[in-house]
Amino acid sequence: MRRKNIIIGNWKMYKNMEDTKNFFNQFSKLMKSKDITCDYGIAASYTNLPLLKLQKNNHLIIAAQNCHYETAGAFTGEVSIPMLKDINVSHVVIGHSERRMYFNETNEDINKKIHALFNANMIPILCCGETDGEYEAKKTNDVIKNQIALALTNIKVEDVTKLVIAYEPIWAIGTGKTASVVEAQAVCKMIRHYIGELYDEVTAQKVRIQYGGSVKPENIKSFLEQPDIDGALVGGASLQPESFLGLLV
Ligand code: PGA
Repeated sequence: MRRKNIIIGNWKMYKNMEDTKNFFNQFSKLMKSKDITCDYGIAASYTNLPLLKLQKNNHLIIAAQNCHYETAGAFTGEVSIPMLKDINVSHVVIGHSERRMYFNETNEDINKKIHALFNANMIPILCCGETDGEYEAKKTNDVIKNQIALALTNIKVEDVTKLVIAYEPIWAIGTGKTASVVEAQAVCKMIRHYIGELYDEVTAQKVRIQYGGSVKPENIKSFLEQPDIDGALVGGASLQPESFLGLLV
């Protein structure tokens, strides 16, 4: 059976509370005109997450953009998984390239966060992707396999079936450049095959793999038509309600 598409808007460090309220006021009106069958949600900044909980939309996945792996402690500036769970967050974006690049997040940190999220019955959206230089040097597959193997170290097979992986070539994020549909499909297929090697084929067929990087309403369908692409992680095009709705299928 074909996996259900999952489309998540990544709002990064955009929108205050007023902007968020306005977005959902408009989105809830607009969405009535569309039959949405995919899973969808927004990864908002911590300050806006309580507002997502107030939406009378049972289908909206409330996602955070990061978390700490300890449940509590002296970690000034951090937010724990129980704190997120408390406000109905069910999914957390983990290892986004911006966190790896600007906040020195390592594969080891990412692995700890994935363990902690599954222990709390929450779903990680594990991001992976290569830099421009790695892409040009044809190292994409090696880089991604390494990121996935380290991120999933000692993660149990029954948890992996619930995992969402987002393949986001770093050179395509916020640049207007997208991987070609053929390239994106090839990498997502490689990821699925590799999950099959690390675990088994049945598990590999259950994992949902998103593509991310300059996805827009105009190009999303061509990605979703690919056999190994099960959704998208979308930054820029998720910030406006019309455009976000245009991404949903
Ligand atoms: P973009 O961002 O859609 O603006 O390229 C994607 C992401 O960073 O997840």
